[in-house]
Amino acid sequence: MIGASLRLKFVTSNEGKWLEVSRLLSSLGVECDRVNASLTEVQSDDLTEIARRAAVEAYGLFGGPLAVEDAGLFVEELGGFPGPYSSYVYRTIGVSGLLKLMTGVQKRRAYFLSAVGYADLHGSVRVFVGKVEGRISEEPKGSGGFGFDPVFVPENETKTFAEMSTDEKNLYSHRARAFRSLVESLQRGL
Ligand code: IMP
Repeated sequence: MIGASLRLKFVTSNEGKWLEVSRLLSSLGVECDRVNASLTEVQSDDLTEIARRAAVEAYGLFGGPLAVEDAGLFVEELGGFPGPYSSYVYRTIGVSGLLKLMTGVQKRRAYFLSAVGYADLHGSVRVFVGKVEGRISEEPKGSGGFGFDPVFVPENETKTFAEMSTDEKNLYSHRARAFRSLVESLQRGL
């Protein structure tokens, strides 16, 4: 299998992301080295643009091939909020603040979006996107994962991401989908 010879760095300061991505890549036969670093928090309404700029910055610091990832939670009834501002919203009002905003709201559809910025050995950058549809639960459940995991239930499931093991979350998650599409592209030699 060609994938066995693939190796890349994943630049992230987020333990939860590292756990998910390292397990996924290892199951796909891709070797992955963590670079534990925080990059500049670029402000943009477009996750793919944030991921692209982060990949360029990371390439300048660490060289390629490497991946960075930017993700967000988009709640339909809140007009897509917090979206690209999910990290700030999580740090400020957190899960309980989000649930407060959803008090009395019947339509609880939401999705997570992940944008993976990949810089190859020569610094050429591409972005891969993954999405998972679901809904915001009425109350937090589970102790696994990170961020908004305790209140996100993927479509056709009853458990929140925080009630799932890492491998189970990887079956559904936006992040796993984006990284799978990166790996498929690399395995096809693109
Ligand atoms: P960032 O990619 O680090 O900017 O992530 C933005 C924020 O979105 C994080 O701080 C989390 O609160 C939230 N988030 C992103 N991905 C996930 C996930 O897989 N589960 C739960 N929350 C997430």
